[in-house]
Amino acid sequence: MNDEQHIKELRDFLNTQNHNYYVLNSPVISDQEFDTKMHELIELEKAHPEFFDPNSPSQRVGSDINLEFEQVRHERPMLSLGNTYNKEEIAEFYQRIAKSTGNSNFEIMCELKFDGTSISIIYENGKLIRAATRGNGTIGDDVTRNVRTIKSIPLNLIGDYPSYLEMRGEIIMPRDGFEALNQQRIDIGEMPFANPRNAAAGSLKLQNSSQAAQRPLDCFLYYTITDEREYKTHSESLDDARNWGFKISPHCKLCKSLDEIYEFVDEWTIKRESLPYDIDGIVFKVNDLRLQQDLGFTAKNPRWAISYKFKAEQAHSRLIEVTYQVGRTGTVTPVANMEPMQLAGTVVKRATLHNADIIEQLGLHEGDTVVVEKGGEIIPKIVGIDLDRRLPDASPVAFPQKCPVCGTALIREEGEAAYYCPNQEHCPPQIVGRLIHFIARKAMNIDSIGEETAELLYKEGLVKNIGDFYRLTFDDIIGLEGFKETSAQNIINGIEESKKVPYERVLFALGIRYVGEVVAKKIANAFPTIESLMDATRMQLLLTEEVGEKIADSILAYFSKDENRTLISDLKACGLQMEKKQTQLASDALVGKQFVISGTFANHSRDELKALIESHGGKMLSGVSSKTDYLVAGENMGPSKLEKANKLGITIISEDELLELIG
Ligand code: IVH
Repeated sequence: MNDEQHIKELRDFLNTQNHNYYVLNSPVISDQEFDTKMHELIELEKAHPEFFDPNSPSQRVGSDINLEFEQVRHERPMLSLGNTYNKEEIAEFYQRIAKSTGNSNFEIMCELKFDGTSISIIYENGKLIRAATRGNGTIGDDVTRNVRTIKSIPLNLIGDYPSYLEMRGEIIMPRDGFEALNQQRIDIGEMPFANPRNAAAGSLKLQNSSQAAQRPLDCFLYYTITDEREYKTHSESLDDARNWGFKISPHCKLCKSLDEIYEFVDEWTIKRESLPYDIDGIVFKVNDLRLQQDLGFTAKNPRWAISYKFKAEQAHSRLIEVTYQVGRTGTVTPVANMEPMQLAGTVVKRATLHNADIIEQLGLHEGDTVVVEKGGEIIPKIVGIDLDRRLPDASPVAFPQKCPVCGTALIREEGEAAYYCPNQEHCPPQIVGRLIHFIARKAMNIDSIGEETAELLYKEGLVKNIGDFYRLTFDDIIGLEGFKETSAQNIINGIEESKKVPYERVLFALGIRYVGEVVAKKIANAFPTIESLMDATRMQLLLTEEVGEKIADSILAYFSKDENRTLISDLKACGLQMEKKQTQLASDALVGKQFVISGTFANHSRDELKALIESHGGKMLSGVSSKTDYLVAGENMGPSKLEKANKLGITIISEDELLELIG
């Protein structure tokens, strides 16, 4: 098999596996096997830039180019739906349809109303070519680059699809991913998103698609537009779309009477709690497409569809106390503990207050009666205070000045919402938080140790810092309550295995404030050994992509501490990866040559070009100097770089010329 065929086979294989995993929820191969094949594909694509395809499954990681979004005009306007809020209004809609058909022999498709942000995706010859937000309904933002990173959206269709197709649907963020994302944001002192809908919309508008790729987004499609099929019903068109590879919600029902519709509404008013994502209502659509056409549109909404919005349920309860949680980076998060109340089917007794600003905005006082709401979002939040029931002499809730656990004075940096405890070395929840972060899947991936075990190891005095994991013995673990030989051995094996985890993930695992996964990768590229990073100056750090002042200062502060330097040499002695592994070169065409890349390029992102240069033995430089051999110039490159390169007589080449160099 030649490389071109091999690339095609790998792409087809990985697309099928993505579909199995993200759309059908039934993976057939292991994650490891998937990663191996993906790696193989990426290597082959690196060696063959001529076979670049924006719809390759390898492109789901996104790119680091920052671009403003282009505006696109929708071929047909993206309308919104009229709303109903009770059964009488649903009945009015139903009766209007009955009246205009002249009989009661019609079907209504009931669907969930996903609480996210709407999207239009266009496919030509089975390939995703464009995705746009709703915008003002007529013109939206081109968010293709970010949408390509969402794994449940097919990049290439399967089966007997029409040659031109528009699918409309909703991009959502499942609740668990939303909570994890918010926790990460809180940990690094950023404002958390108010709800999964805002998080989904915000993620879609990220300028940097490799960041969008990290966001836990998902997508349900609910509307098919194509001139090439003569569907009789909406449900039929969705069945087809499912066969082309789209994720279509199974939770829909064709109803033949108002009673059946009410039944669906009642069922999901309760069952929505058990869904892993938020819905904010139900959508009713006339199933017969001829009838849809007859009913037509008003200026704003279709007459053949309407939505029912769940009531935001509220309950009153008394605040018992505000407690404060300390995260791994020391961020202190206030939590309201309330007398248990019944709210939209569940018992609620806690709600996060996020930060000191929120407490102040609410004007929360000790013992206040608070109004708690569950809207489209399942996570309860305090939306107000019943001032009539404020206790006499109640004092405002005061954010503590000292760490609630270790007593150290809290710090709030300028422009940040969060207070944090600076006692990184000795504040117990920070130590345990760091241990848990270290073993996490995206860090050292020691999944044989769970969060509880990590806490236990700390409490028992066996693991006081991350280096201690590597000194644990089988006997240490078997001595703990509840551990048998197999589980103890699994832990030892997991720790041993983690020594193979690559350098960039070790950097992330260290838990340096503000150094997330993406930043860790960039740092590992710029400073390929831990020593070079430890010796980096502020200026050198600032020259690294994604690294601004906040991150640079945090890295400097981390390595300025003797205990951290000792920890690093300890980890190195234990056998952890402390330098970037040289991958095997695709060729030695560029060995000994030094490159600078500037501007944006038609066919590749800057990261892709860098990877390409390095895979052929070239070295990347961050700025033009007399050592530079080639300046790869794209569009909009800085004039000063160009001028300097000209002055120094450096060869300036285009993207295509670079590819020619590689051959
Ligand atoms: S149908 C012309 N179906 O709700 C009909 N919309 O105001 C197009 N939504 O903008 C919409 N779930 O973003 C439809 N199952 C569903 C939906 C749904 C959520 C959103 C969509 C739309 C808004 C209605």
